[in-house]
Amino acid sequence: MTSSIKKGKEVAVKIEDLAFGAQGIARVDDFVIFVDRAIPGQTVQVRIQKKKKKHAQARILRVLEHSPLEQEPECVHFGACGGCSLQHMVYEEQLAAKERQVIDSLRRLGKLEHFITEPILPSPDPFYYRNKMEFSFSRKRWLSPQEIESGVKGLQDDGLFLGLHAKGFFDKVINVHDCKLLAPITNDIVETTRKFALQSGLPAYSTLDHSGFFRFLIIRHCKNTSDLMVNLVTHDHDTHIAQAFRRLMTDRFPQITSLINSTTQSWASVAFSEEEYLLAGKSTVLEKLDSLSFEISSNSFFQTNTRQAKQLYDLVLEYADLTGQENVYDLYCGAGSISLYVSGHARKVIGFEAVEQAVQDAERNSLRNDIHNCEFFAGDLRDRLNDTAKVIEQYGTPDVMIIDPPRSGMHPKTVQAILALNPDRIVHVSCNPTTLARDLAVLCQEQYKLVRVRPVDMFPHTAHVEVIALLEKV
Ligand SMILES: C[S@@+](CC[C@H](N)C(=O)[O-])C[C@H]1O[C@@H](n2cnc3c(N)ncnc32)[C@H](O)[C@@H]1O
Repeated sequence: MTSSIKKGKEVAVKIEDLAFGAQGIARVDDFVIFVDRAIPGQTVQVRIQKKKKKHAQARILRVLEHSPLEQEPECVHFGACGGCSLQHMVYEEQLAAKERQVIDSLRRLGKLEHFITEPILPSPDPFYYRNKMEFSFSRKRWLSPQEIESGVKGLQDDGLFLGLHAKGFFDKVINVHDCKLLAPITNDIVETTRKFALQSGLPAYSTLDHSGFFRFLIIRHCKNTSDLMVNLVTHDHDTHIAQAFRRLMTDRFPQITSLINSTTQSWASVAFSEEEYLLAGKSTVLEKLDSLSFEISSNSFFQTNTRQAKQLYDLVLEYADLTGQENVYDLYCGAGSISLYVSGHARKVIGFEAVEQAVQDAERNSLRNDIHNCEFFAGDLRDRLNDTAKVIEQYGTPDVMIIDPPRSGMHPKTVQAILALNPDRIVHVSCNPTTLARDLAVLCQEQYKLVRVRPVDMFPHTAHVEVIALLEKV
């Protein structure tokens, strides 16, 4: 049948479900149409932007019929910001949609069946749940259609803006002044830093020609202590600028416990500190989970939703079902938080992590918590586990593996190394159901079966979802 769907065509569609990336799904003539920001139950007038063989991408022109799943978004930046793209959907419905997406991905992409799905675990806090955010400097500002119409300046290439990336733009930021994810005080810190940078006369960095000065502002606000880290990431270190920033911030925000100026000369748009200059306070922040405390450096990974991290780690413990006798490998261990959390239930825990600074944090965190059965090793897991005999000789046979890779999932060599190491049980934590499905499909080809799965909402109002999965030997 020839489809009536053509690029540029306007059509009214009913949204049936929600796909990854906060995309509403509609169907016309056997065609799947993905509609950005549309939610199930809405009827929307859309314009087709791209047409492929079996699906099309469309943009909402107007909502013709509202959905009972809709709610008024709380954030003034909703719609433009690439962050909370589901804020206009009732929270319980966000959860239900994320749960469906996880199951669908495991079944459809991973071809996995016969596993138990447990109900998604909601986040304890729907707003101000994050303990870390990265704001970007840019020469280009995103403007709303209304601002463009009213002639507001801002699209010129020589401006200086600080905020969050506009959805779909790597080079344009929204000058955020009221983000509801980190903590109210951090909005003032962003505002003050933006004014400071503007007054300095130095330009924002541009990835296009690798020139400019100001790159990122990273703020960590710990939820279970009062620690607050502000890290201004620049291309170079300028002593005058750094000292002026120190005077301003320590004067205006005495709550800051750690003030850092980091530099990075990388072409990549990644907020990673290559050199670090401590301007005031400590070089780390302290966060607590239960009775454990964690020192976290600027480059170390720590779960961003502290209160939900505790619930996730409790699930890791439940899934791992440790008796106190096991040798546990914690792959992609970051600053060792899972290792330390489960250490009281295992004989030994070995953590593996690529970032050297995170491994140092993990070692320091063991000592500060008086834990003596954990060891941590720095290195890329792609190469670390390949020689099975040597790994076993060095670290002992793993009884249980806990795996928590980055969004991109595991390297195929790491998956093969895990199969060769053959632990009895694998607890897999993932922040990306698509790469989880891909990696589990390989692990579950012959040797393991997927037993149970639980989605966990770490990031309310965003399109992201965390998953924990238990694999056992067949
Ligand atoms: C999602 S975090 C998990 C951290 C930790 N499990 C936790 O709960 O805090 C993923 C970690 O994997 C590390 N990582 C990424 N790629 C890696 C690789 N190829 N080898 C080793 N570690 C890697 C990152 O630096 C990061 O600390």
